[in-house]
Amino acid sequence: MVRLGPTAICRALGARYPVFGFSHSPDVIVALAEAGGFGVLGLAREMPDDIAQIIARVEKRLAGKPYGIDLMLPAGVPQHADIGNVRAALPSAHIEFVAALRERFALAAPTRPSFFTTQVRSEALFNAQIEAVLASKACAVATAIGIRPELIARAKAVGKYTISLVGSPRHAQKALALGVDALVAQGADAGGHTGPIGTFSLVPQIVAVAAGRPVLAAGGIGTGAQVAASLAMGAQGAWLGTLWLAAKENHTPPALLQRLIEANSDDTLVTRAHSGKPCRVVRSAWIDAWQASDAPAPLPMPQQQALTGGDFSAMHEYDCADLIYEAAGQSVFAIDAPTTVAAQMATLIAEANEALAALEAAMAD
Ligand SMILES: Cc1cc2nc3c(=O)[nH]c(=O)nc-3n(C[C@H](O)[C@H](O)[C@H](O)COP(=O)(O)O)c2cc1C
Repeated sequence: MVRLGPTAICRALGARYPVFGFSHSPDVIVALAEAGGFGVLGLAREMPDDIAQIIARVEKRLAGKPYGIDLMLPAGVPQHADIGNVRAALPSAHIEFVAALRERFALAAPTRPSFFTTQVRSEALFNAQIEAVLASKACAVATAIGIRPELIARAKAVGKYTISLVGSPRHAQKALALGVDALVAQGADAGGHTGPIGTFSLVPQIVAVAAGRPVLAAGGIGTGAQVAASLAMGAQGAWLGTLWLAAKENHTPPALLQRLIEANSDDTLVTRAHSGKPCRVVRSAWIDAWQASDAPAPLPMPQQQALTGGDFSAMHEYDCADLIYEAAGQSVFAIDAPTTVAAQMATLIAEANEALAALEAAMAD
């Protein structure tokens, strides 16, 4: 009987199961490694001065277990950017709209400095992030939205496995031409920045373009049967993001966790209101206000984040029940209670094995 076990990419990266987890939480990454999955730590939201320390701490706790790092490197951002200058140039209609929202929702300013209140994405920021990742012990480097030829070349030169998140066959071809080792076919169902092609349609197209190079399926995956289905479509594993928000290791604010537990797939939508680029999030009163007919069109990246990043930080700091939102995929249907990464991994593996057995039985009948 076929059972869930390591595929070629798992053997290359030292994972026991073809379950790849993206998370901004070092605790999730450590728990995934302990449970036999492969954790990829997102650093796109970290303050530049904190990154080296975050990496050092996670590596100490992993004690040699493999992990990856993910960077989000969109093209078209300024060379250098100071959040004060970007804020000073924001259109007054947008400033007034957001001021009215703060008043309507009684949303106070955040007290803690964060990436969203102090940084704007720029080439200078990305270069600092890239140097930190190259100096790390991470065995894999993943990049999303944009792809940087020099990062791929330098990462490969120091023996790191390179992974690129792609949302279309055209993106995949570009990444493959740069020599990336593996692709994540991330469909529109995914939480976070996403393109228009659904996961079920995207994965076979990327598998075809990849011509033997490993592909991971991402977007909307929250059950073990979907992990098995990913393998059936020719992927070498599944890459999940939203599911881990329910794990205690993610330290999700209680009101957000409750929203995710109550949300169904159709409570997520793609909006530019979070970052300026299309991003799937779970709805809240804040997101709905940006969908309303009186709302201005969100500004491009990085202006939209300079406009509303403080509000995003504030709703997380104060755990605002009505307003709090986060990037989340249609996979939110699979979140129904607070849990742990170990329990989630055990469930995914058991469900995948059940699905494989059911398939075998169905074919034998
Ligand atoms: C809260 C959250 C933040 C994310 N941030 C990033 C990011 O910084 N970089 C990235 O490559 N992907 C990011 N993603 C997307 C994930 O890598 C992954 O492709 C996606 O979560 C898969 O779909 P799912 O959410 O339905 O599991 C994020 C996803 C979530 C839920």
